[in-house]
Amino acid sequence: MGLEDGLTDYGDKGFARFLRTAFASSMGYTEELLERPVVGITWTASDFNNCHRLVPSLVEAVKRGLLTSGALPMVFPTASLGEAFLSPTSMYFRNLAAMETEELVRGQPMDAVVLIGGCDKTLPAQLMAALSVDKPAIMLPVGPMSTGSFEGEALGACTDCRRYWAKFRAGDVDTERLTSVRRNLAATAGTCPVMGTASTMAALIETMGLSLPGAATVPAVHADRLRIAERTGAVAARLAVDGSPTPRQLVTEQALDNAVRVLLALGGSTNAVVHLAAIAGRAGLRLDMQRFNELSDATPVLVDLKPTGSHYMSDLHAAGGIPQVLRQLDGRCDLSAPTVWGGTLRDGVEAAGQWHDSAVIAAPEAPVDPHGGLVALFGSLAPDGALLKRSAATPELFEKTARAVVFTSLQDMADRIDDPDLDVAEDDALVLQNAGPIAAGMPEAGYLPIPRKLAQRGVTDMLRISDARMSGTAYGTIVLHVAPEAAVGGPLGLVRTGDRIRMSVAERRLDLLVSPEQLAERARGAASRPTADFPSGLSGYGRLYQSHVTQAPDGCDFDLWTAERR
Ligand code: FES
Repeated sequence: MGLEDGLTDYGDKGFARFLRTAFASSMGYTEELLERPVVGITWTASDFNNCHRLVPSLVEAVKRGLLTSGALPMVFPTASLGEAFLSPTSMYFRNLAAMETEELVRGQPMDAVVLIGGCDKTLPAQLMAALSVDKPAIMLPVGPMSTGSFEGEALGACTDCRRYWAKFRAGDVDTERLTSVRRNLAATAGTCPVMGTASTMAALIETMGLSLPGAATVPAVHADRLRIAERTGAVAARLAVDGSPTPRQLVTEQALDNAVRVLLALGGSTNAVVHLAAIAGRAGLRLDMQRFNELSDATPVLVDLKPTGSHYMSDLHAAGGIPQVLRQLDGRCDLSAPTVWGGTLRDGVEAAGQWHDSAVIAAPEAPVDPHGGLVALFGSLAPDGALLKRSAATPELFEKTARAVVFTSLQDMADRIDDPDLDVAEDDALVLQNAGPIAAGMPEAGYLPIPRKLAQRGVTDMLRISDARMSGTAYGTIVLHVAPEAAVGGPLGLVRTGDRIRMSVAERRLDLLVSPEQLAERARGAASRPTADFPSGLSGYGRLYQSHVTQAPDGCDFDLWTAERR
C-alpha cells in the first residue's frame, strides 16, 4: 500500500524503495504524509478543452477531501479530449485515452484513483480504463455549463448551435446575428448543458454508482460542485484503505440494466449506446440490443430536456437530478444496487427527499413519451443492428419506404449536398457510406445536413441513414451505427441511388429492398469497394486503431480488450 506499492524493477527491492522515498522526499512532503495511502487524481485540464477549464479548482477540492481524511493525493496528467478540437473526431482518441489512463493507474503507486472527466469521450475512456485495472476508483464529472441568452431565449451548446446553423443555411439568420449567437452558446466552463453525450454519460455513471449523488447535474460553476469534489476525495481516501468496491464489483448486469433504463428515460445520447457497449465489454459483459429494445418498450421518457425537449441541465438539477429520476423509475430500476460511496442507490434517492419538479422530471403515469427514447433496428440493411433516437425523430417518418440518395464518403457528401442540381426530393432517404469506425473513425457525421435547396423550401427533417455517429445534442430522423459498416462489406456499402429502403420503427426493421442476387452481383463488382476518408492510417496509433477497432455493437473498443475480458 502507498508509495511502496509496485516498485520500479532494478532487481533490488530495497534499493528501489530507498530511491523512490528519496525522490518523493524531494517534493517536500513530511514523513507522516509519505506513509499515508496514496490516491491518484487525473489532471485533465487542457487549453484544448474548454469544458475542463475548472479542473484545477476541482483537483484542489478533491485534495482537501483526501488530506483531511488521511490519504496522500498525487495528481497526474492524462489525455484530455476536447470535442471540438480533435481531428478526425474525438471518438478516434477515446481508446487512446483509455489505454493511457489504464496504464498510468496500473503502473504508478496508487491505492485508489479519482477520475475527473466530462467532455464527451473522457468519462467513458476513464471508466473503460478503470474496469481494466480494477483498482478502487471514483469518478468526478466536471459538471454542465450554464446557459447563455440571445434575444430573450436561453442558449446552450450544442443543440442551439445546430438550430441556428440550420436557420443560417436556410437564409433565416444573417451572419451578424449568427455571430451574436456564437458568443452565447458556450457561456461558462463545463460540458454541454443539454442531454448530450457528456451529460448522458455523467448520468449513467451516477446511476451505476460510480460517482456521488448529484455529481452528474450540479452546474460546473456552482459551489456545490466543489463540495462534491471534496466529498469525492473523502470517499476515495476510504476506498484506498478498504480496497473495495472496485469498478468491476459495481458494473454488473444489474447496473447495466439500470443504466439502460435511465438512458431511455432521459432520451439520452445515441453515443452512450456505443460507450455502454465498450464499458460492458471491459466488465466482461455484453450490451444485448434485443434486451435493449425490450427495456425501451417498457421504459417511458420522463425527462424533458434539449435536444428532444425544452429544458437544460441546470433545470434538471433544480428539478431533483438523477436521484429523482431514479425515484420515478423505482420498480423498473433496481435501487438495491451498491455504490462506490457505500450506500445503495435507494439510500441516495431517500436522502434526496420527495420533492421534484414534474415539469422537468415527469411521473411514469404522465410521461413525456410512453416509450424509451432509443430503439435498435435490424434487417437486410443492418444485419448487426442500427440505432434510431426516436424521441428526436419525426413520428410521421417512422414507417417509411423511400428512394435512396447515396453519398459514398464524407468528401462526396461535402462536395454534392448543396449542389443545386442534386437529384433529391423531400421524400427521399439520404444515405452516407464509409463513415464507420474503420473507414473514418466513426465521426459525428450522421446528422447529414438537409440539402440547401430543400432547406430553403422549408424542409427541416428527412430520413437519413449512415454507419456514422451523431452528436448527442442533435435531432432528426437519423438512423446511425449501421453495422457492419460499409467499409467491411456491410450491405450499406451496396446501396445505390434509386434503391428503395424501408424503415419500420413498429417492426424494428431497416431493409434494403433489392434482391439478394442483385446485391451479390454488386458485391462482386469493383464499384462496391469502399471509399475510405480516414486520414490517420499512416500513424502508428492509426494502424493500431484500424487493425483492432470493433464495430458499434462491440462499442468500437479494440478487440485486444474485448477478447481479454470475455
Ligand atoms: Fe465538451 Fe460538449 S464540447 S461536452
